[in-house]
Amino acid sequence: MAKMLIIYHSEHHMNTKKLVEEASKGLDILCTSIDDFNESLLDGVTIVGLASGIFYGKHHKKLIEFVENFHDLLSNKQVYVIYTAGSNNQQLGSYLCNKLDYYNITTLGTFNCLGWDSYGPYKLIGGLYKNHPTQEDIEALRNNLVRFL
Ligand SMILES: Cc1cc2nc3c(=O)[nH]c(=O)nc-3n(C[C@H](O)[C@H](O)[C@H](O)COP(=O)(O)O)c2cc1C
Repeated sequence: MAKMLIIYHSEHHMNTKKLVEEASKGLDILCTSIDDFNESLLDGVTIVGLASGIFYGKHHKKLIEFVENFHDLLSNKQVYVIYTAGSNNQQLGSYLCNKLDYYNITTLGTFNCLGWDSYGPYKLIGGLYKNHPTQEDIEALRNNLVRFL
């Protein structure tokens, strides 16, 4: 049983998967794709990470719907919000954070970093921030996660 479970959805360039899986390596943290989530993964877990890329200004709808449908499962947990995005805008986690607040779920904070983004016209130039998340981003998240364990 891990102390922390990170539930992620990653689909554009697997930026978020890379970030959370590499940052958690060797720590008492289990990472699962939201598609593979089942309730038993929360046994013994006190902290839940929710992570995805940003799509049209918010976390992926799979994560938002997860909170809407399963907020009861999070009521006795503390939640850490994580995202990768094509910009450094610190407000992009707000929609998910507000949703968590609405259900009175405690949040520990937010971590964000850039991720390779080839959406729309950026595709023509191979995308922006191709080597992101970087090793520094992974280390920065890891240092934050360690504080919770
Ligand atoms: C359809 C689409 C919409 C996006 N919308 C935004 C956005 O509103 N703001 C932003 O900063 N990045 C946006 N991005 C960039 C992604 O958030 C970024 O590439 C992220 O790292 C993808 O994570 P993933 O590879 O884990 O899926 C968008 C990307 C796609 C494909």
